[in-house]
Amino acid sequence: MTASDLAKILGFYGRFTPTYSRIGYWGRRTQWTRSKRDFTGQNWLVTGASGGIGAAIVAGAAEAGATVIAVARSEDKLAQARASLSPEAAARVESRICDLSSVASIATLLASLRDDGRRIDVLQNNVGVLFNELEMTGEGFETTYVINLLGQYQLTEGLIDAGLLGEKPLIVNMASGGLYNVPQNTKLLNVTDAKRYGGKVAYASHKRGQVVLSGLWNERLKPMGGHSYVLHPGWARTEGVQKALPTFYKIQGAILRSPAEGADTALWLAAERPSAAGRSIWFDRAVRPEHVFPHTHSAKCTDEDLVAFLKQDLSKAIASE
Ligand SMILES: NC(=O)c1ccc[n+]([C@@H]2O[C@H](COP(=O)([O-])OP(=O)(O)OC[C@H]3O[C@@H](n4cnc5c(N)ncnc54)[C@H](OP(=O)(O)O)[C@@H]3O)[C@@H](O)[C@H]2O)c1
Repeated sequence: MTASDLAKILGFYGRFTPTYSRIGYWGRRTQWTRSKRDFTGQNWLVTGASGGIGAAIVAGAAEAGATVIAVARSEDKLAQARASLSPEAAARVESRICDLSSVASIATLLASLRDDGRRIDVLQNNVGVLFNELEMTGEGFETTYVINLLGQYQLTEGLIDAGLLGEKPLIVNMASGGLYNVPQNTKLLNVTDAKRYGGKVAYASHKRGQVVLSGLWNERLKPMGGHSYVLHPGWARTEGVQKALPTFYKIQGAILRSPAEGADTALWLAAERPSAAGRSIWFDRAVRPEHVFPHTHSAKCTDEDLVAFLKQDLSKAIASE
């Protein structure tokens, strides 16, 4: 490792550990009011719901009275997460199996939601993964691109277009502080060449893309009195982080947030519905800047380019089924 690499690493941890770790959460929560939440009568849909932050969002919503559709691949993991809830909350949680890396599987989920006819009041687009090595889906996409962005676009647009959102709906998009490392850029969304693929850059680019989508959906929900938010959770101790960033997980270990701490702002936004929505990036119950490094300020594509890119990929995938 060169001295400049070491300086970069120390600079990174020095800058972000105090705020993104549990230290930041514990410091800030002393300023927060603790009101009892009541989501009774609301239908939620949470993706990536069988573990980590997603399971904590399900728990927070169901314990406060919401009925929750919990979406993930593993029936066993979903059942385990449900078993950790109070019996009353567990009875309000329904598991739906869906591979969110598959356009076909998401289309099936949408069809089943249409058949139910149940309106979703709060959609938590929580699922998100970082792979260090390139993986491709059977449909020809880089896998994390579909999980982190294209599939979220498909699911959300599908729900809106089918009129499956409730009155004054909310969409809450779980991004990552990683987005601060890259400018908006369609070229980095679906990198299918192993030589060009970098997991962290792909992940960051998808997360930057979520900011654009949150702005788009906020405009779409306005006539319905709804909001779309985008947030990041800080650094939480989850299986996803352990797998994707083992060294980071080891170094930060004890000071990572719990999944419930990582879920705090997602639940708070749903309860408080603040007016700053769309592209405003939330973290620890406050709006944060859209950029922290100078090199990301100038976008490499427009919002319209990004949406057109997703639309085209989605149409291609649907047409080939
Ligand atoms: N943890 C952090 O420090 C951190 C930091 C910044 C941002 N975030 C963001 O927060 C969100 C949650 O992160 P996390 O760390 O809690 O994640 P995690 O521990 O990796 O949990 C992943 C969840 O997603 C599901 N999942 C993974 N692949 C899936 C697929 N193909 N189809 C359906 N479900 C799938 C898993 O369930 P199955 O295995 O049952 O499918 C599991 O429920 C993500 O968007 C992440 O990017 C987290």
